[in-house]
Amino acid sequence: MVYSAEKLSEEKVFKDPVHRYVHVRDKVIWDLIGTKEFQRLRRIKQLGTTFLTFHGAEHSRFNHSLGVYEIVRRIIDDVFAGRPEWNDSDRLLTLCSALLHDLGHGPFSHSFEKVFQLDHEDFTRAIILGDTEVNKVLTKVSPDFPAKVAEVIAKTSEKKLVVSLISSQIDADRMDYLQRDAYFTGVSYGQFDMERILRVMRPREDQVVIKQSGMHAVEDYIMSRYQMYWQVYFHPVSRSAEVILSRILHRAKDLFNEGYLFKYPPHHFFSFFKEKVDVEDYLKLDEAVIVYYFQIWQEESDFILSDLCSRFINRNLFKFVEFDPAKEYKKLGELTSLFKKAGIDPEYYLVVDSSSDLPYDFYRPGEEEERLPIHLLMKNGELRELSRESEIVDAISGKRRTDHKLYFPADLIHDETNKKNMKKQIKTLLEI
Ligand code: NI
Repeated sequence: MVYSAEKLSEEKVFKDPVHRYVHVRDKVIWDLIGTKEFQRLRRIKQLGTTFLTFHGAEHSRFNHSLGVYEIVRRIIDDVFAGRPEWNDSDRLLTLCSALLHDLGHGPFSHSFEKVFQLDHEDFTRAIILGDTEVNKVLTKVSPDFPAKVAEVIAKTSEKKLVVSLISSQIDADRMDYLQRDAYFTGVSYGQFDMERILRVMRPREDQVVIKQSGMHAVEDYIMSRYQMYWQVYFHPVSRSAEVILSRILHRAKDLFNEGYLFKYPPHHFFSFFKEKVDVEDYLKLDEAVIVYYFQIWQEESDFILSDLCSRFINRNLFKFVEFDPAKEYKKLGELTSLFKKAGIDPEYYLVVDSSSDLPYDFYRPGEEEERLPIHLLMKNGELRELSRESEIVDAISGKRRTDHKLYFPADLIHDETNKKNMKKQIKTLLEI
């Protein structure tokens, strides 16, 4: 039997708190899960620093990747199979792309990518196409199979229907992370009726569409995404931890470039500091390694590095106030110079952080990120874009909400500025 069609002699199941079970029968999928690059995802948390706000949020990208695979498997095997618009020869490509879609995520992805100017999507591609165990498994299917999987994940594949199952405004990725993140944080916002949505999904030549009768379940899904962004993903306390994390990486990089002698040399970071990162170095860095360095850097002689690391490890986070960069730039200037006078380096201790989300949007050609809209399949067979039918979705469609906060260490301000009679001035400006 050809490798791509090989089945396990017995179905394997993973117990999953969100989908109850994740079912694996394909040998290729089983082999991919066993590769070291996929196992690495166990050591990368799905929600980065969110566990410092919602203590349950310790789940990993491994859980999420299996979940996305399971949702896609159910759509294909239970809903699409046998329909003339679905080509079952795309089945394995779709399942592999779902399983591997987050393969290139690094530790604390968000901050990490910003500081070192990396893109996890580039690494997903590099891991799939490079000299890796994942590549060996995919190549056994066919020599051009790794490239096909990489194209689906990068959204450049010609198989638009397959792409839309994994990344669109209603895809298996979002359906899994909303429910999973809601489950592990313990909030009630991320829940929606996925069973119903799966049942009303229909394949079309270039996209997945939703039967008109499923519109309300989709409305609920979009609202739950909107709520999760503001209640969980952009929570100001998790962002405080992220601000500190990114400042630590910055500080370590700056010190390295200045020739600072580390008590504990950051071997795992050398190629990142030099901005020459290959896949091998990238795969060696996971969250356990990062936290190890933060733990020992508390003993470094550089005050800023050791102070920031101790804040992260012991959850002594920065406080924050609302901040409007358009109106309050003067205030930020005054605060910056007061911080400098007080001996608190504003580059590390006075940070503006902005978060922004667009809950749903219809198609706007030429925009920076062209979004695939959700289409309803009407009874007469026509397709209609969701916001034209749903008043609720229309009300939030295309509305970007942005939130800015100014972060600072309240304790340090208290101690340092007290000595120089500047405490009152700073506190008045910060309105604390
Ligand atoms: Ni994902």
